[in-house]
Amino acid sequence: MSGGDGRWHAAWLPPEAFGAVGARRVLVHGDGLLVDTVFAEVAGACADHGGHVLRSGLADAGEAGAVGVDLVLALTGAAPLPAPAEAARADAGTLGDEGFLMARAGEVTVVLADAPPGLLYGLFHLVRLGAAAFEPGLPAQPHRPALRRRMLNHWDNVAVHPVMGQVERGYAGGSIFWRDGRPRRDLDRLRAYGRLLAATGINAISVNNVNVHATEARLLTDRLGDVAEIADVLRPYGVRVHLSVSFAAPVVVGGLTTADPLDEKVREWWAITTRAVYERIPDFGGYLVKADSEGQPGPFTYGRDHADGANLLAAALAPHGGVVHWRAFVYNHRQDWRDRSTDRARAAYDHFAPLDGRFRDNVVLQVKYGPMDFQAREPVSPVIAAMPATRLAVELQVTQEYTGQQRHACYLGPCWSEVLDFRPWGPGGPSVAEVAAGRAGPDGRDGGLAGVSNVGGDWYWTGHPLAQANLYAFGRLAWDPRLDTGAILDEWIDLTFPPSTTGDPALVRQTLHAVLDDSWRTYERYTAPLGVGFMVRPGSHYGPDVDGYEYSPWGTYHFADRDGVGVDRTRATGTGFTGQYPEPWSSVYESLDRCPDELLLFFHHVPYGHVPHSGTTVVQHIYDTHFAGVEQVRWMRQRWDRLAGVLDRALHDRVAGLLDEQLRSATEWRDQINTYFFRKSGVPDAHGRRIH
Ligand code: GCU
Repeated sequence: MSGGDGRWHAAWLPPEAFGAVGARRVLVHGDGLLVDTVFAEVAGACADHGGHVLRSGLADAGEAGAVGVDLVLALTGAAPLPAPAEAARADAGTLGDEGFLMARAGEVTVVLADAPPGLLYGLFHLVRLGAAAFEPGLPAQPHRPALRRRMLNHWDNVAVHPVMGQVERGYAGGSIFWRDGRPRRDLDRLRAYGRLLAATGINAISVNNVNVHATEARLLTDRLGDVAEIADVLRPYGVRVHLSVSFAAPVVVGGLTTADPLDEKVREWWAITTRAVYERIPDFGGYLVKADSEGQPGPFTYGRDHADGANLLAAALAPHGGVVHWRAFVYNHRQDWRDRSTDRARAAYDHFAPLDGRFRDNVVLQVKYGPMDFQAREPVSPVIAAMPATRLAVELQVTQEYTGQQRHACYLGPCWSEVLDFRPWGPGGPSVAEVAAGRAGPDGRDGGLAGVSNVGGDWYWTGHPLAQANLYAFGRLAWDPRLDTGAILDEWIDLTFPPSTTGDPALVRQTLHAVLDDSWRTYERYTAPLGVGFMVRPGSHYGPDVDGYEYSPWGTYHFADRDGVGVDRTRATGTGFTGQYPEPWSSVYESLDRCPDELLLFFHHVPYGHVPHSGTTVVQHIYDTHFAGVEQVRWMRQRWDRLAGVLDRALHDRVAGLLDEQLRSATEWRDQINTYFFRKSGVPDAHGRRIH
């Protein structure tokens, strides 16, 4: 199962996945670049699987071509459609820019779209359904993406950064775009990447790190050609390119003496520079900005606020239809650990909520899903409920910085699904996904979903072969946040390990579910307990170091002492963070009794003897979950052995080796966490297990 002549793994698009489509007599009807892509995909599949494909244009009345076909992929247009498509049209309604209808008309399966991207997404849906798409009972069903912008952010550096390397927080080899300061120019691989993204529904990427260093700042100006080249390759797959830019660009690359957002020369510089970008890349998506955050430049330097900063770039992008994604990840990373009143969790809300209503229409505020930083467990960020007059995108981390760095199997679908389903205003209110879709506010303006990419130059794309499931799930949830994450896993399994290529398809499916289904909760069990987070080794963020950040300036503390542990974020006695939530969550989190166990230490400082809902004391809960987490990993490792000889050997070996490391690392976590809390509290394990 490889692609590109064995230069990379085929992931969820091996030739076998196209078997059902490629064995048919197919008519592709319509014009346009993405229809050409659909045609080329179908032609490739037919060449592999014995079918054949015809093409008609929108101006053709497709009747003749439609005779004797089993599959029609057609764009709606003025001229009459091929007969089966015309029949299905009645069920279609308005499909929009990216939607499609899938239906049966007599003996024919029909995919109908109003615009070319819809046809492409319809094709990949056919691929997912396989033979089921050709069954007589297939119901007519329109599909439209819930979120308009479904974006991956690559934290790729053009020049290798002395500390962060080629890809910041990258665990899958080098960058697929850049190498040692130059474009990599492996255009075949980029094209293959575009296909994979389109097949999950992703339609936008940013191609460089949000920390914009000297070389990367030039992508906006004299190195724009490098970006255009990527855009050209991805365009046929409906993926638009965005760029991370430095707020200081007018100074750093423009030669001005200031980047003050209210300075006329600065505004003009951005307008001219942005116009040049669109001349070169007409469908350019826009800018992504990390400003006044972790040392990146921003409007604060000039006494301006984030609305001034974001609106400056938005004004330059507006005439061209571009958007600025302005990140809300702003906090003081130089705080004094002795100061217990400053709470990093509060920062994004404190900075941004007062600015609600001040951002231009084409500003999207991009908010990390939690108030801290992509921990395995955090409450949903209160910013998401605090800015009804602002377009909000939710940011997830597909790259596993804090969730095992693609050495641990950790399927994040369930975590993201919980976040997207969360209802910040309580059960009757809109969900996080609906906020991102613009369906919570009065004017329907959406923000979308962004994920930090886990992709690199590795043969499997994602380092850990099973981390492909995270990339796949991210795209699918961005398309439809209500999808069941187990069903997403089934799709991924069936596409990636086609039944015809494995020794025992049922065992493959069973085992992958066994390993992945609960892997995020397992990871949570053996790492930082009860939502406290950040007990990681500073810098690398891999492996345990309970006090690694405790006396640091980063604002990530657990406050464990001999009596108890956790951060008091209540209004009554703590930092007041609970007050940033609307009801009912404000009261739920404030209350020691009502706070969910998994967030107990995020919101409360409690004695070790406190008994949460789980029914055992906090310290015993810590011991129990850490022992259980390791046993779970041991079981995952054993289960994996059953696939020896069933799956591709190299893939099996790679995962087996990684599971060995996961078991070693989980054991290390268990022993350090348990020993730490045993020594602090002096409370022995109720079951007499070995603690050091
Ligand atoms: C985390 C991560 C950084 C990254 C930052 C961000 O702090 O460790 O590498 O730059 O998030 O999201 O900007």
